[in-house]
Amino acid sequence: MKVDVLLGLQWGDEGKGKVVDVLTPRYDVVARFQGGPNAGHTLEFEGQKYVLRSIPSGIFQGDKVNIIGNGVVLDPALFKAEAEALEASGHPLRERLHISKKAHLIMPTHRVLDAAYEAAKGDAKVGTTGKGIGPTYTDKISRNGLRVGDILGDFPAIYAKAKARHEEILKSMNYEYDITEIEKEWMAGIEYLRQFPLVDSEHEINNLLKTEKSVLCEGAQGTMLDIDFGSYPFVTSSNTICSGACSGLGIAPNKIGNVYGIMKAYCTRVGSGPFPTELFDEVGDKLCTLGHEFGSVTGRKRRCGWIDLVALKYSIMVNGVTHLIMMKSDVLDTFETIKACVAYRINGVETEEFPYSIEGEVEPIYAELPGWQCDMTKMTSEDEFPEEFNNYITFLEEELECPIKIVSVGPDRDQTIERYME
Ligand code: GDP
Ligand code: IMO
Ligand code: MG
Repeated sequence: MKVDVLLGLQWGDEGKGKVVDVLTPRYDVVARFQGGPNAGHTLEFEGQKYVLRSIPSGIFQGDKVNIIGNGVVLDPALFKAEAEALEASGHPLRERLHISKKAHLIMPTHRVLDAAYEAAKGDAKVGTTGKGIGPTYTDKISRNGLRVGDILGDFPAIYAKAKARHEEILKSMNYEYDITEIEKEWMAGIEYLRQFPLVDSEHEINNLLKTEKSVLCEGAQGTMLDIDFGSYPFVTSSNTICSGACSGLGIAPNKIGNVYGIMKAYCTRVGSGPFPTELFDEVGDKLCTLGHEFGSVTGRKRRCGWIDLVALKYSIMVNGVTHLIMMKSDVLDTFETIKACVAYRINGVETEEFPYSIEGEVEPIYAELPGWQCDMTKMTSEDEFPEEFNNYITFLEEELECPIKIVSVGPDRDQTIERYME
């Protein structure tokens, strides 16, 4: 009956995993619709921390069904490692983790191609996660991909043909590699996949909707990394925006209800590419240190800066966001002043509209607000919010023309405050 979508509005790592986990009890099914193991979604509860890459973040709440949709790209070896670790930590998932037969498989040679293309780009490299995401989606679009459903047929032949194509490309690039070990793990991953329900998830989801069940779609990456609307070419290779949930799960657009857009109270980016509000000073270092801004998958240091309302307005527009969720508010607890970028100055001209390109000289124009300078991490209700924090929220809501429904004040499941509204 109802499909809500939760997705990132910035350059990823906004805290999607945490909020999906918090919201899961309200839904019957949680489904990932795009991306793959480039994602790293962190959840913390009962003193434990988990990082999920391909498995949806609804897996820890009771016996809810979780679906890996057709829009996802799956690496069987990484999936096996992730699923086995979860099962070993007391979270059985075999029967309730369903995988679309139409999801595409990331092959070992896709990973090699990812590395080879990055090396060929030199200084212009994207700074990918190295998980083979771009080459796998490239094969999908050029109609050369392998799908999960292929493992139910004459898989060795299909695999050999696809691998030979990749070998030709790598040979033409004079790229040296050895996949002997990872190929073994990968084949073990293929066998492991057979133990899971491999489904036609578009039918499954639509049948559930007919029986008044509700679905939460979990986005990966963020809108600024979207293949169409992100800071191209420094983006990922899928549609991370709301419409990706329709194509990545087989859900009709008119079934979408709430669109939850997640943002940090500031902004981060990992990998290359433009980032107008990036800070190269001690303020940036402070955000990085207090926010523990290191990639959950690659461990890379995340670049940090102030919140960018020009980019956020654009993200809200292309996603049709109905509710905002603001994460990591606590990271700003000790700041005397907080800045928010309200416009860009490009070639001497001010604009509040996100431009075609943000490469080159983009000068952020900031509004300054007083910080709240108190510890928010133990707060449990909005009644406890300091006046300056309420002012920050009101300012953002007015600028972004969208209500902030949830505020997160720490990494734990319990450090989540829902605001009073409809
Ligand atoms: P995702 O990819 O969007 O799921 O986000 P990541 O898990 O990559 O990065 C978010 C990081 O921030 C994780 O380490 C979370 O544990 C942490 N986190 C989430 N919400 C909060 C919060 O409100 N405050 C603080 N301090 N950390 C948070
Ligand atoms: P979650 O879901 C942050 C970035 C990479 C690189 C670019 C392309 O945890 O928010 P790719 O490997 O996808 O081809 O890399 O996208 N990137 C992410 N940055 N969070 C992510 O996922 C990301 N997934 C990819 O750093 O700049
Ligand atoms: Mg992440």
